[in-house]
Amino acid sequence: MKYLVTSATGDLAFQSVQFLVDLVGKEQVVATARSLEKAQPLRDLGVDVRQADYLDKESLIQAFTGIDRVLFVSSGDLETREQQHRNVIEALQTAGVSFVAYTSAPNAQDSTALVAPDHKVTENLIKESGLEYAFLRNNWYLENEGALLEAIAAKRPFTYSAGEGKTAWAKKQDYAEAAARILANVAPQKTIYELGGTPLTYPELAALLQHDQTEKIELIATTDEEYASQLTEIGLPKDAIGFIIGIQKDIREGQLDVDSQDLPNVLGHPLTPFN
Ligand SMILES: NC(=O)c1ccc[n+]([C@@H]2O[C@H](COP(=O)([O-])OP(=O)(O)OC[C@H]3O[C@@H](n4cnc5c(N)ncnc54)[C@H](OP(=O)(O)O)[C@@H]3O)[C@@H](O)[C@H]2O)c1
Repeated sequence: MKYLVTSATGDLAFQSVQFLVDLVGKEQVVATARSLEKAQPLRDLGVDVRQADYLDKESLIQAFTGIDRVLFVSSGDLETREQQHRNVIEALQTAGVSFVAYTSAPNAQDSTALVAPDHKVTENLIKESGLEYAFLRNNWYLENEGALLEAIAAKRPFTYSAGEGKTAWAKKQDYAEAAARILANVAPQKTIYELGGTPLTYPELAALLQHDQTEKIELIATTDEEYASQLTEIGLPKDAIGFIIGIQKDIREGQLDVDSQDLPNVLGHPLTPFN
């Protein structure tokens, strides 16, 4: 059996390769990289590394040839993501891969979240492809909350505009381990996994992260407009501000509030604590 992880120079995919090697052995693991120059850490794991760019279907077909099960990690380049993902799915079919696990978004079919449309399209293309599949609907990475983590470390106030909306944060390593376990077929079998932790508001997350600290930071709940103007003042580019505010709105509107036990069930152990 040959297992392949796509775009494995990325954080989540790289960690998935590490877990997969432990589960099935390095001889059965293949990883793709868009740039082979960035792939030395993968070679150091002893896995077979193949070049493949989501924008280059031929490279994908060649990389997928002889592979049974693929972890398809969604592209980090949002500009042309839908076309990239179409290329991946067509290449999976042409190469005769039997199973694909795709890293999707929470509640992808019904979500109105900023990032959901590409995931909805990709899920539908996979469903129509005839491939066996699993959708790994990853909720938010705790690591996305760099601003909160930095504010806590520096004992600075933290501003947010997500109101009382909840997010099911979990650590990236748990999503990576879950992906490896689903790919290796050692997890409870489902076609749709809603993966994440216990849904929390920002104040609840901040309380958890500061559990052992006597001095808590100030949390400032504000509006999208006020938050955007603060981000403008500190010099963030307009696109980045739009993205951050869009996510805050998604959280406020409950788009990431998915309560599911799929992640601990797949891991077979409790989620990694946040501190
Ligand atoms: N659930 C969440 O909280 C959350 C947050 C952020 C992102 N995501 C999604 O989850 C994915 C994995 O997260 P991550 O933290 O591992 O992201 P990451 O470290 O930024 O990795 C993104 C990956 O996308 C690859 N990529 C971009 N364009 C590509 C192309 N044309 N062909 C092949 N690969 C391409 C990058 O390749 P290079 O190394 O060559 O640049 C990189 O390996 C992201 O790509 C994104 O779709 C989820």
